[in-house]
Amino acid sequence: MADTTSLSNIKILEQKNAEALLGGGPDRIDAQHKKGKLTARERVDLLLDPGSFEEIGKFVMHRSKDFGLDKEYYLGDGVVTGYGTVNGRLVYVFSQDFTVFGGSLSETHAEKIVKIMDLAMKNGAPVIGLNDSGGARIQEGVVSLGGYADIFYKNTLASGVIPQISAVMGPCAGGAVYSPAITDFILMVENTSYMFVTGPNVVKTVTHENVTSEELGGASTHSTKSGVTHFSCANEAECINNIKALLSYIPQNCEDTTPPLPYEPTEDESREILNNLIPENTNQPYDMREIIAGIIDADSFLEVHKNFGENIVVGFARLAGRSIGIVGNQPAVLAGVLDINASTKAARFVRFCDCFNIPLLVLEDVPGFLPGTDQEWRGIISNGAKLLYAFCEATVPRITVITRKAYGGAYDVMNSKHIGADLNYAWPTAEIAVMGAKGAAEIIFKREIAAAEDPEAKLAEKIEEYQKKFATPFRAAHRGFIDEVIMPAETRTKLIKAFKMLENKVDQLPRKKHGNIPL
Ligand code: HXC
Repeated sequence: MADTTSLSNIKILEQKNAEALLGGGPDRIDAQHKKGKLTARERVDLLLDPGSFEEIGKFVMHRSKDFGLDKEYYLGDGVVTGYGTVNGRLVYVFSQDFTVFGGSLSETHAEKIVKIMDLAMKNGAPVIGLNDSGGARIQEGVVSLGGYADIFYKNTLASGVIPQISAVMGPCAGGAVYSPAITDFILMVENTSYMFVTGPNVVKTVTHENVTSEELGGASTHSTKSGVTHFSCANEAECINNIKALLSYIPQNCEDTTPPLPYEPTEDESREILNNLIPENTNQPYDMREIIAGIIDADSFLEVHKNFGENIVVGFARLAGRSIGIVGNQPAVLAGVLDINASTKAARFVRFCDCFNIPLLVLEDVPGFLPGTDQEWRGIISNGAKLLYAFCEATVPRITVITRKAYGGAYDVMNSKHIGADLNYAWPTAEIAVMGAKGAAEIIFKREIAAAEDPEAKLAEKIEEYQKKFATPFRAAHRGFIDEVIMPAETRTKLIKAFKMLENKVDQLPRKKHGNIPL
């Protein structure tokens, strides 16, 4: 730090402003760039509308004296915090500065983050954290750990009140991972970021596994294997663009709704292409994304968790300019079956949408839950129950369209009328039954088939009988479990009208402290 004793306050201010902008100094900024990473301030500039950033706590310094810290200070103490706008909407941001003590978290660094979280909560706007940190400031010991805990606590209190988005743009290790983990969405940058509870060295000592940081906790690992990250981004610019895109679908807080985009209705919203997307053979796969694209406003789908639990597709879209959340079984992967990953992925998404008043559209083609020891032993019961629970407690407008299969317990789980969906549509291709016709016929006509002269012919006859009776949407429509059987082409028109009809929906859960979702 420069000697400021002989300067007037205005000069001191200028000098301090210039000093703060340099973070840990030009050499460390160069080193950061050489790693293919932007600095904390460059990231903030990229994220926020030009000229909108207002910094808070620019001159904050740490208060530590141990291990040489009494001689080493940097203005801002390794994190740039403040507020600004993204596409004109207020957001709060913190951006860790790796050039200052490796972005490590000190007591004061934590206080700065907590301060903007408090402001965000009081003023009802999202918090975006740009994480790039070596973890707890080692020289500070327990004081730093306390700082982390203060942040975790605020993250939890803010959960469901304001949207919280974490971009991991460098290291994020040890307990530090739990702040992003509590937030609503995590984005990671391929090859320059990683997240793990214990790093490769500890892993080698404890489990004797040889693994690189990237393999253990890089963006591709967490976007495919663990599901910890929702978006894996090719570079930092893509990461920031994804944050902006995400923000455009979500409201400022839990009392707010997402502002719609201007939309000019056309005279005919029918989409003929939808009439031709379901294959004739009911066991043939198709891509649910094509159905989604056929229904929503052009190019408006922002898929979340794209490469994890791919047998279910979740994401945000716009319908006549309004933001909706979509959950669709994906017949192109594992026939769209519900397994542990698909259930937890969709449950988390449903809960996010419900927290923030985003209406839900469910597109259903599900043959049931995935059988097998692996799934049973790892808890498909309690994990499948998460999705059931999430739908049951959601009070936002909820609409289901059954495109093809709706079998067994999965029929109930996938936003059925019985668990509170507002409107349930089915296409003529829908099959709503306890199980597939073959399995059903084999069980209920077991004796008749065994006694038949030609058991195979008998089985075929019984399969057909079952299929005619149950593999249709009509039984459910007679009961009112399906509100209307519609042609695929008219789905978009129906949904636009239905979501408009539901836009002022009021529904309340019984008074309680909080529910006990099976975790
Ligand atoms: C203080 C730190 C630091 C830390 C890095 N630095 N991590 N200073 N506390 N935690 C400093 C370095 O001394 C160095 O200072 C500068 O930051 C850059 O670090 P490098 O090691 O040169 O960078 P790089 O080679 O890119 O390696 C980055 C790294 C490594 C992998 C993050 O620095 C590292 O392993 N750091 C320690 C990680 C760690 O064990 N943290 C504690 C985890 S436990 P100079 O002056 O040379 O620029 C934890 C618990 C949280 O976080 C619990 C919450 C409940």
